Amino acid sequence: MLVEEAILGRRSVKVFDSRPVPRSLIEQCLSLAIWAPNHKLTEPWRFSVVTGEARAELSHRVHQDLKASDPPISWAVLEAASLKHHRKIHSAPVIIVVYALQDDDSLRSRENYAATAAAIENLLLAAHSLELGAIWRTGSIFEGRHVREFLHSPPRSLFVGAVYLGYSAQRDTPRRRTEAQSHTYWVPVSDTAPD
Ligand SMILES: Cc1cc2nc3c(=O)[nH]c(=O)nc-3n(C[C@H](O)[C@H](O)[C@H](O)COP(=O)(O)O)c2cc1C
Repeated sequence: MLVEEAILGRRSVKVFDSRPVPRSLIEQCLSLAIWAPNHKLTEPWRFSVVTGEARAELSHRVHQDLKASDPPISWAVLEAASLKHHRKIHSAPVIIVVYALQDDDSLRSRENYAATAAAIENLLLAAHSLELGAIWRTGSIFEGRHVREFLHSPPRSLFVGAVYLGYSAQRDTPRRRTEAQSHTYWVPVSDTAPD
């Protein structure tokens, strides 16, 4: 698949059918994700892959984190939020949760975050080229202590995104972009010419 075709053809997918995704395809996506540019070759991305029954445990961990909310939340809010997250977690056969390593140096930490975001885009494009659907989601559920423990996320890492992956059961939804020209300033050549 041409790069242009992959970029223009990829769209976020939220609805998946129940077919499991072969592990080899998930591994292929990850092995392409890691070719993202990364300054000083820090390779800051860390992936946790949740599939099948592990999703039920993830959902349980989310419930535990919500229960430990500070300030506490009411029982009704806890139950409603847990159910919402349980459904979302089970909406895709695979969830790849992605964290970026952090550093004492704040610039390096920002670079690590940026490199990991680039790796996620690679992952999305790889999934699309393998005829899988995917969506990049965020949300605080991947930052709680119980969830992080379960996912073995490194202690000094920032959550960057969760890629929900599977076979699309969604009709194509065309999405809009403003043309690049509207968000671009071309610096006049005369302004940059040396005296
Ligand atoms: C950092 C980031 C966070 C996102 N979080 C969510 C999310 O929590 N829920 C969601 O439905 N989509 C999320 N998305 C996906 C965007 O909604 C989606 O990319 C946008 O609607 C454009 O659609 P497209 O990906 O099909 O071009 C996120 C995308 C990015 C880059």
